[in-house]
Amino acid sequence: MRRKVTIVGAGNVGATAAHWIAEKELADVVLVDVMDGVPQGKGLDLTEAMPIEKCDVSIIGTNDYSATAVSDIVVITAGIARKPGMSRDDLLITNYKIVSDVVGKVVAASPDCILIIVSNPLDAMAQTAYRTAGLPRERVIGMAGVLDSARFRTFIADELKVSVENVTALVLGGHGDTMVPMPRYSTVAGIPITELIAPERLAELVQRTRDGGIEIVKYLKTGSAYYAPSAAAVEMVEAILKDKKKILPCTAYLKGEYGISGYYIGVPCKLGAKGLEQIIEIKLTAEEDAALKKSAEAVKELCAVIGV
Ligand SMILES: NC(=O)c1ccc[n+]([C@@H]2O[C@H](COP(=O)([O-])OP(=O)(O)OC[C@H]3O[C@@H](n4cnc5c(N)ncnc54)[C@H](O)[C@@H]3O)[C@@H](O)[C@H]2O)c1
Repeated sequence: MRRKVTIVGAGNVGATAAHWIAEKELADVVLVDVMDGVPQGKGLDLTEAMPIEKCDVSIIGTNDYSATAVSDIVVITAGIARKPGMSRDDLLITNYKIVSDVVGKVVAASPDCILIIVSNPLDAMAQTAYRTAGLPRERVIGMAGVLDSARFRTFIADELKVSVENVTALVLGGHGDTMVPMPRYSTVAGIPITELIAPERLAELVQRTRDGGIEIVKYLKTGSAYYAPSAAAVEMVEAILKDKKKILPCTAYLKGEYGISGYYIGVPCKLGAKGLEQIIEIKLTAEEDAALKKSAEAVKELCAVIGV
């Protein structure tokens, strides 16, 4: 029997995530949205691409949660995206209402599912989902670090004119202006990038990574990035469905790790069939530790506004 992934929100990120999942033949997909006809149309359109792509998966679009029953994974992309002049935090109240509503519905239909949260502001929405779902932290994980690290990897590869395959990078912290790119733990074919790129230039790449989302928003004007964000969410889906035990930077609920308790923040995680299988604690310098704690404080402030 094929695995089943539900994606809530058939907008740019959700529909493109469905595209990557189908094209990789990972699972059957159910796309859910409040807009009548949009998930149905996109689902049918994608289904009609499958003979060309030689993939046997079904993609159903619906407004009805009964079709989502017994999903292995549910990816939450429902909500509004930012436009020029907006920060991710400006989405807080609207997306809090949407995310708490849809999480209640998907968990009622799929009590054993693993939730991957994508809606922004990411860390506060992961916390919202965790509080609403009542699932263990192993089954409520947020996507941000894979995207932020992919952006950092892109900029490093371009700077050094090397294959993106050679570049690994780590970005910790919240998904916002306080995110913490970690040059010491970012490498090219195993060589720390601190050996290859001068500090001043590296600082510019770090800043471009922090501004990676807004750089795209400024170009698009009507919405935010979706190809890389959806690919990032699907890397997490694949790691779980294939029980890969893959280490990825994900947003996880901390219970004392990194000296932080009771909040979602981006840390290195092992993803496998059980969802979040381990949080890897790496040694931080005093400066890195302070940056992570500052980022956690920013998340805490947002969570206080919505009381989660
Ligand atoms: N975590 C990350 O790194 C990351 C990256 C990119 C985007 N995002 C976030 O993902 C979210 C989606 O972005 P997008 O570009 O796909 O936006 P979009 O506007 O294209 O799509 C959002 C979809 O959600 C739907 N929706 C709204 N309320 C709903 C509800 N109650 N139930 C079901 N569906 C509902 C809308 O109808 C729309 O189709 C935004 O909040 C955005 O900020 C996060």
